[in-house]
Amino acid sequence: MAFRHVPVMREEAIQYLNCAPGKRVVDSTLGGAGHAMAVVKKILPGGLFIGIDRDAGAVENARRQLAAYAENVRLVHDNFVNLSHILLQLEIDSVDAILADLGLSFDQIESSGRGFSFRKDEPLDMRMDTQNTETAADIVNKAGVKRLTRIFKDLGEERWAGRISKKIGEKRKTSPIETTGQLAEIIRGAIPGKEAARRRIHPATKAFMALRIEVNRELEALDSFLNDAVEHLKPGGRICVISFHSLEDRIVKHRFNEFARGCECPRDFPVCVCGKKPVLRVLTRKIRRPSQEETLENPMSRSARLRAAEKLQ
Ligand SMILES: C[S@@+](CC[C@H](N)C(=O)[O-])C[C@H]1O[C@@H](n2cnc3c(N)ncnc32)[C@H](O)[C@@H]1O
Repeated sequence: MAFRHVPVMREEAIQYLNCAPGKRVVDSTLGGAGHAMAVVKKILPGGLFIGIDRDAGAVENARRQLAAYAENVRLVHDNFVNLSHILLQLEIDSVDAILADLGLSFDQIESSGRGFSFRKDEPLDMRMDTQNTETAADIVNKAGVKRLTRIFKDLGEERWAGRISKKIGEKRKTSPIETTGQLAEIIRGAIPGKEAARRRIHPATKAFMALRIEVNRELEALDSFLNDAVEHLKPGGRICVISFHSLEDRIVKHRFNEFARGCECPRDFPVCVCGKKPVLRVLTRKIRRPSQEETLENPMSRSARLRAAEKLQ
């Protein structure tokens, strides 16, 4: 069955990536291959598309979707944190553009059966790559209450992180917490009734997202990936990142700004001694958000934020 994920901010991403015939482009998050298909069509004839996803199902789907372009396409099941190694294996030194569209695809949420959503009662797994060892159930049942609190507070910005962790600690003493339904109920019970009623989102939303980010080590991977991605861009090459979480966006903004900054010597130094030169030019001084039409048509795009930059000559 083909994936049903609708690509978010596709036109904007394609425009920022500056895709044209003959170019080499990496899509580091294939998902439902929506962006991939649009990129491939733009870089033919003569271009090379490298698609990566840590979810084997997404790579298989992309293989089917892009079968007609197989000669110009290389697909890899891996974490984008290994970008340098992946390119080395493909004997590619540098590329013209790199895209990362972070988070989950519609299909992972709706039909993977891996417990990404509290709206379905599924095993508490949450691994994007099922070859990884630690599942959400492992963390929920084995992590100390302190670690759980840190996860919910730091990654989910959940105000009631301490209460939720304590409740989990109590409940798991009687029997393990194995499903999304059980966990969602525990979280709902830990958040004061008035506060839960006031929230516009389900009371378990923030805690579930935090757990998913922890299971997949998403923030660590992103930070390291951005460094490697910039290194492998050709001069004039473009990078475009679409994120759905303020912590992810903060990392992208911070890294881009860091790469765009030149000399870091104290202001009162008569000459530069650090020798640092800007590597990137940020193309999105103001963050780009999806249009109102897009958010109406595809509610999953609501929290998307796009940032793009160009490698300097
Ligand atoms: C939002 S979807 C991408 C959708 C895609 N752009 C499209 O148009 O269909 C995000 C995808 O990124 C993958 N992903 C997330 N983090 C990853 C990582 N560190 N390495 C590789 N793939 C990752 C997920 O498995 C998921 O398939």
